[in-house]
Amino acid sequence: MSNTIDLAGLSNFQEDKLERPTPLYQNDYHAVYWLGTPENSAFRCNTYLITDGDEAIIVDPGGADAFGFIRRRVEQIIDPAHVSAQILCHQDPDVAGSMVHWLDVNPEMKVVTSTRTNILISHYGREDYSFFNITETPAYTFSSGRCLRFIEAPFLHFPGAFTTYDETSSFLFSGDIWAALDMDWKLVISDFHGHEFKMNLFHLDYMASNIAARGFVERLKGVRVKAILPQHGSLIPEKFVDDAIRYLSNLRCGLDIIYPEKKRK
Ligand SMILES: [Fe+2]
Ligand SMILES: [Fe+2]
Repeated sequence: MSNTIDLAGLSNFQEDKLERPTPLYQNDYHAVYWLGTPENSAFRCNTYLITDGDEAIIVDPGGADAFGFIRRRVEQIIDPAHVSAQILCHQDPDVAGSMVHWLDVNPEMKVVTSTRTNILISHYGREDYSFFNITETPAYTFSSGRCLRFIEAPFLHFPGAFTTYDETSSFLFSGDIWAALDMDWKLVISDFHGHEFKMNLFHLDYMASNIAARGFVERLKGVRVKAILPQHGSLIPEKFVDDAIRYLSNLRCGLDIIYPEKKRK
C-alpha cells in the first residue's frame, strides 16, 4: 500500500491554509507532516513531524521564537509530551534553539544528533538529556521495526551536519541542503530551473565547496528519494529529485568562490 500524497498537487498551496499541519505522507501506521512556519520572511524555516504508530519524532524543531507555534501544530496531531525524540541536523539556533523547551515538555525526549553537534547544543542550557548518537548508530528504529537512516553530510554546512532518510515514505529530510531563500514561496516547487536561483542565494555563501557537495551525492547512491524536505524554502517532489542531485554535483560554492585562484590541480 502506497499512500504518498501527491506533493506536486500541493504546489498551489495557499499560505492562508496554515492553521493546520499539512500531511505529506500518510497511511494507517506512518505519517509525515509539514508543521508550517510562523514567519513570513525569505529565511522561513520548515519543521516536520514523523509519526509511527503511537510514536512521534520532530525533525528540526526550530528556533526558540517558533516554539509556541510549532507546539500548537504538534498538539493538533499528538500530545506533545508523547513526542519521543527530536532530530537536530546541526546546532544552528534556527534548527535547535527550541531544544530545551521541548525537553521541558518531555524530559525523556531523545536528542538525535551527531557527536559534533552534541558538543555545541549543551550551550542552549541543558546537558541532562538522552543523546542518541547518529555518528555511532546511523539508524533509528521505531518499535514497529520501521527505520530512519542518517546520512552524514560533512561541511554542508557544518562539519557534523547530517540528513535523515525515512525508509517508509522514502523522504529525505535534508536540513540546510537544498535550502532556498525567497519571498514568493510555495510549499512545493513546480519549476526546478526557477528554483535554482533561490537555492544559490543560500548555497553559494553557506556550503563549503564542490568537494563537500559531490561527496554527499556519492553517499546518496542507491537511496531512492521520493521527495526532498529541506529546512528552508520549498519542498522538492520526486520529479525534480534528479535535477536537485545534479544541481549539488555541479555546485560551485563557498571556498570554490572565495579562493578561486586555488584551483585544484
Ligand atoms: Fe545552518
Ligand atoms: Fe538552517
